[in-house]
Amino acid sequence: MTVKNALSRRGFVGGVATAVGYLTFKPGLGLLAQGVGPAHRLAAGAQQPLNEYDSYAKLSFNENPYGPPDSVMKAMTHAFKYANRYGYPDGGIVEEIATHHGVRPENVMIAAGSGEILDVVGSAFASNGKKVVGVDPTFAQVYQHVTSVKGSAFTVPLLEDYRQDIPGLIQATKKHYRDVGFVYMCNPNNPTGRVVTKQEIRQLLDGVPEDTVVLIDEAYHHFVDDPNYATSIPYVLEGRPVIVTRTFSKIAALAGMRLGYAIAPADLIRQMSPFETGTINALVKHGGVAALKDTESQATVKRLTLDLRRKTTTQLQGLGYTVIPSETNFFMVHLRRPVVPVIAEFQQKGVLVGRPFPPMNQHLRVSIGTADEMDRFMVAFKDIMSRPITTAGRGEGRLQ
Ligand SMILES: Cc1ncc(COP(=O)(O)O)c(C=O)c1O
Repeated sequence: MTVKNALSRRGFVGGVATAVGYLTFKPGLGLLAQGVGPAHRLAAGAQQPLNEYDSYAKLSFNENPYGPPDSVMKAMTHAFKYANRYGYPDGGIVEEIATHHGVRPENVMIAAGSGEILDVVGSAFASNGKKVVGVDPTFAQVYQHVTSVKGSAFTVPLLEDYRQDIPGLIQATKKHYRDVGFVYMCNPNNPTGRVVTKQEIRQLLDGVPEDTVVLIDEAYHHFVDDPNYATSIPYVLEGRPVIVTRTFSKIAALAGMRLGYAIAPADLIRQMSPFETGTINALVKHGGVAALKDTESQATVKRLTLDLRRKTTTQLQGLGYTVIPSETNFFMVHLRRPVVPVIAEFQQKGVLVGRPFPPMNQHLRVSIGTADEMDRFMVAFKDIMSRPITTAGRGEGRLQ
């Protein structure tokens, strides 16, 4: 397989990007907003030269730094001929996803990123006074969206080892049963990178009232090695009220193209469909079909990512820092000092790292980039951490 290099990727977008000359990009806002809501759409309003964006080591959004493989680029380039059409052949993306998972097309909903599916689930099941139950911290977009549609979030803290508290979630769901719209579980969890084991998923599903909708976000599924982890898609086949979400933004390197999906029982998909926007572009539908088939390139990305994660975390541990064991393309390191000023210092050094995740105010989330980006991260880390804590960091880190 070939993971495309930066040069050939530029061949694909280069024309448009060079003509415009600028990207709408403001790292300061973007990195702090990351992970909450549609904030991956980097903060609007500030025009930064394109080469400033290019110059950063981008370790803040858990992206695939290598870009889509040749097979996917070819499919998307071919689909450009539909750019002027509405009713174009879409490559059979829904059917391909269904076949890939051994479900029926009526069990599949596609959207412009799995983030859109999270919003759709929030609107369908937890608006107007209903609650979403889940842990904190996690991928907070779900809680934010539910709040915006006049629902609310009931959150349970992580355990001391940063795993998700299954008995706590069961208890909270039972306690608020009348008001619970759904339970949200990110597996593996963002920002910690820790998995919920298959035994724990069963414990949760058997422990909550049987009609409770459980949304399981498997955005980082493809990076997991832990044999105690398993996808929850078989529960959909059992007919349980389980919605599993997946994305093409991570292992498949299509974050900027926007494609994600849900696998769920057909009656849940029907309840969700009034809230979908249908704003998926022609290119990514074809790119998605190619990506599902290109398992070889995904295996290479996984290997490169896990090798670099091992190398970087070993270096950090060698310096005496504790790292939370991760099963994803990012990890968290305990800084023993407030994270907010450290994030700013990294940015000054041209390295974008993850936003703060309160109450883990001394933990830094770092995405796995290329080997060169990880080297730049380590150089910056050693320099920043060898200096005394800045005054700006005395207060505990707060989300901005
Ligand atoms: C856990 C999790 N879920 C969902 C998403 C949304 O991804 P997308 O909308 O690009 O599919 C992300 C993005 O970072 C994520 O970390």
